[in-house]
Amino acid sequence: MCENSSKITVLEKYPDKTKSLNEFLNSLPLGADIKSNRGFLISCLHKAQSIFGYLPDEVQLLIAERLRLTLSDVYGVISFYSFFTTQPPGRNKINVCLGTACFVKGADKIFAEFEKQIGIKDGATSKDMKYSLSSIRCVGACSLAPVVTVNDKVYAKMTPLRVREILKECE
Ligand code: FES
Repeated sequence: MCENSSKITVLEKYPDKTKSLNEFLNSLPLGADIKSNRGFLISCLHKAQSIFGYLPDEVQLLIAERLRLTLSDVYGVISFYSFFTTQPPGRNKINVCLGTACFVKGADKIFAEFEKQIGIKDGATSKDMKYSLSSIRCVGACSLAPVVTVNDKVYAKMTPLRVREILKECE
């Protein structure tokens, strides 16, 4: 039997998210002036990533079309800023702050422990999609250093010994 090769795109799969992104794009004063449109590129990418959790190809293409830019213009910006990701995130997004206040209190050792226990490097997602691990800069909670966040939860005064406990909570 011939298999139906039509693939559902991310935009079709998540109509509500697509609607939110289109509403945002519609709210911008975009026009024929590509230079002016380009000024909105980073905010569009931020918005899209906050909606979809990452920047899949179809989303990049949609933004490129609406801003009248090329896909390589868009991809150039995505690859320049480490904040942007084209990979879908894991269910638990673990961010380890490596800002100065956290670093001097041993955040690098905490980060290394997460890398070791999950078996992935900075910016990666585990194969089972359970975890994404990222190093980040100051989250504005230096008095709680070293700081780790998992999704929206903040873990203060972290130690390498608590890494296992946190991973267990994510089960
Ligand atoms: S340096 Fe980590 S919260 Fe400020």
